[in-house]
Amino acid sequence: MCGIVGYVGKEKALPRILNGLKFLEYRGYDSAGVAYLENNNLKITKEVGRISNLEKLLDEKTETYLGIGHTRWATHGIPSKINSHPHQVGQFTVVHNGIIENYLELKTKLQKEGVKFQSETDTEVIPALLNYYYNQTKNILESISLTLKELHGSFALGIICEDDKEHIYATRFGSPLIIAHDKSGYFISSDVPAILEYTNKYILLDENEIAKISSTDLTIYNEKLQTITKEELTYEGSKEAAKLNGYEHYMLKEIHEEDTVFLDTYNYYVADNKFKDTMPNLKKYQNIHIVACGSAYYVGQIGAKLIAEYANIPCYVEVASEYRYQKNFYDKNTLVIVISQSGETADTLSSLRKAKEDGIDTLAIVNVVASSIAREAKYTLYVKAGPEIAVATTKAFLAQTTLLTLLAIKLANRLDLLEYFKGLEDYIRILLNKDYQKYAQAFYKHNDTFFIGRGIDYALCLEGSLKLKETSYINSVAFQAGELKHGTISLIEEGTPVIGIATRKELIPKTISNIKEVKARGAYVLFLTNEEDNGDYYDDILVIPQVHDIITPILTVIPLQLIAYEVAKLRKCDIDKPRNLAKSVTVE
Ligand code: AGP
Repeated sequence: MCGIVGYVGKEKALPRILNGLKFLEYRGYDSAGVAYLENNNLKITKEVGRISNLEKLLDEKTETYLGIGHTRWATHGIPSKINSHPHQVGQFTVVHNGIIENYLELKTKLQKEGVKFQSETDTEVIPALLNYYYNQTKNILESISLTLKELHGSFALGIICEDDKEHIYATRFGSPLIIAHDKSGYFISSDVPAILEYTNKYILLDENEIAKISSTDLTIYNEKLQTITKEELTYEGSKEAAKLNGYEHYMLKEIHEEDTVFLDTYNYYVADNKFKDTMPNLKKYQNIHIVACGSAYYVGQIGAKLIAEYANIPCYVEVASEYRYQKNFYDKNTLVIVISQSGETADTLSSLRKAKEDGIDTLAIVNVVASSIAREAKYTLYVKAGPEIAVATTKAFLAQTTLLTLLAIKLANRLDLLEYFKGLEDYIRILLNKDYQKYAQAFYKHNDTFFIGRGIDYALCLEGSLKLKETSYINSVAFQAGELKHGTISLIEEGTPVIGIATRKELIPKTISNIKEVKARGAYVLFLTNEEDNGDYYDDILVIPQVHDIITPILTVIPLQLIAYEVAKLRKCDIDKPRNLAKSVTVE
């Protein structure tokens, strides 16, 4: 949930670090800081708020060629200068992404050894431990290795030791970290887009490995401190893909990529109405669990209903933060599917690991290539959404829904259904080019909104509601349409905005009667459906193109995303970086 970046090389370090931090702001942005060597003296500058606040305190022309930077999403300790990273204790200065779960125990032990702590953070125990062991060993690598043995939780670390002014050290467990280089020197970063300006070649550090970088070389050590070599990877995304390209917000840009993203994902798995070998043979699985968080969980709900309906396979869907702690019922024909755009969500990664420990086959649906979840699952199916920068997921959601629909067709062995995908991109474009501002006008002044739907449309209600919450800070609730009268309808009063979603022919009349119930109590109703209708029970109607039921969810989500975007704009919210959120939730 935080971003770290470091650079050591022949070019000035601050412009590269600050540029990288700006690309990492989507991971957390309540404070930021840098530590760098100037004339062999370590300087630390920190500030609350956005990177732009930190930039005002720095001179990019500073003669420094080695530094580490951090953008924070607070977990322990309020957003403040003293709690922001880097944290320094003695010889060691550290930036950290992750959570140290046993920090209180470590802090108490170190305080008994006379260590003084400045901040409320869990992170500060890391430089304190490093310094504690360095005082005993006078060996940096050994001190890092001894420290790692004591840390429980997740971490990606950038480390400077003032006794070694040539190198930056880095290591990880759970949280992501890459090492990269260009002709001028070496980088460490939480992800590749942050350094894509300079290079698309990178190395993935595996857990508990330690990297030591200087301006000219990289050495990587395994847990036994033996030097190892790693494969160099090439990042698929382009610099342009990670930029705004003229759009006002990444969220809008990414929604408008959805026709391409749909085609790229579809064509990666299907050609001439047949599955390519990129889609594994999953015939043996007769029991499926789908596990994810947030929007990915709602994709799972869509997928589960389609798999059950078309492949006749029982599908159990659960949020990862519950799944990993509960008793789960598997058999040898169970497949656990985890869904994650970032591939780094801690709860989802832990659920994957639990299923593997239980001897169950796992399949990951992921956007970020070579992410932790992608690397640990038995099968990994990538969606081809490209880098998604906006915290609120949109194009990845549509791509994941596409892929799960294909998975349902594969499991059902219903290749005839592939025919219905033909030209779907044209319908996506129709929806992308509609005007949603008029709908947003009806919602943006309210602080409460309801979404109601049945079946798969209820899963779309959940996602539409989350999009509105995330980007507009509106208290939005999604309800099974049939459930409203069992209590919640008491909240409906004059003018309460309600979005009713009904796209399944057999359920439309039922949902219309639920819409009438709220309309009769004064609600303002936007009816989202795929059949022309001239009823008097709604205030406005939004008709999406009528396509086969199995691919309708791919279309239904688009208006919900764009309405949320337009409402957020009217409410002048920070659309790409909503308050309190981060793009990748790498803490539990
Ligand atoms: C979605 O808009 C949110 N940003 C959030 O719910 C997200 O879907 C969730 O954190 C899961 O992220 P993942 O797909 O990267 O695992």
